[in-house]
Amino acid sequence: MTRYRYYTATTLDGFLADDADSLAWLFAQHIEEDGPGNSATFIADVGVQVMGATTYTWILEHERDWLPEIPTFVFTHRDLEPANEHVSFVAGSPADHRAAFDAAADGRDVWVMGGGGLAAEFAAAGMLDEVLVSIAPVTLGSGKPLFGGAFDLALQECDRNGDFVVARYDVLGPLKTS
Ligand SMILES: NC(=O)c1ccc[n+]([C@@H]2O[C@H](COP(=O)([O-])OP(=O)(O)OC[C@H]3O[C@@H](n4cnc5c(N)ncnc54)[C@H](OP(=O)(O)O)[C@@H]3O)[C@@H](O)[C@H]2O)c1
Repeated sequence: MTRYRYYTATTLDGFLADDADSLAWLFAQHIEEDGPGNSATFIADVGVQVMGATTYTWILEHERDWLPEIPTFVFTHRDLEPANEHVSFVAGSPADHRAAFDAAADGRDVWVMGGGGLAAEFAAAGMLDEVLVSIAPVTLGSGKPLFGGAFDLALQECDRNGDFVVARYDVLGPLKTS
């Protein structure tokens, strides 16, 4: 059964990147490559990655090797260039594309890479099973938000890796306010 998992790093005040999309705050942190929540263990189960247009263009400009040769769906309204034959462009609700994502994942996980608005779109569509965050000991005050909506989650695991608090949550559904 395909799991939809939002795996990311965040500042303590809930930002994925600063206002200029810089990850300098992230690269300054210490992490143990084989420690809790490490990316290699997570990626070993991933069959598909999905991301928003800002994340895609940032990766192309700065870290092209973060685009492994697996099916990659980029949400955009723009006419972007595919980086390789594995990249497809989609728009609209994640639910409209679930069959395609599931088929491409073939039982493996879908990595929802972000940003936070897109992660919330997946959660709103009932297509986000888990949030796995590495929380850095830094605040930015403003930037690109970790999440774009109000949802209830349940903490399943919590650990330390280097400078980071590493936590895994199940997504329960829209936040109940009463
Ligand atoms: N800390 C980390 O580990 C981490 C992880 C992931 C990302 N990041 C960074 O965080 C930042 C996130 O940027 P962001 O907040 O702008 O989010 P984003 O999700 O990367 O990009 C948002 C854009 O995606 C497109 N989009 C989103 N939902 C869509 C939909 N349903 N249909 C069609 N297009 C849709 C829209 O672009 P258009 O309408 O313009 O096409 C929207 O402006 C980036 O700088 C990224 O590099 C950091």
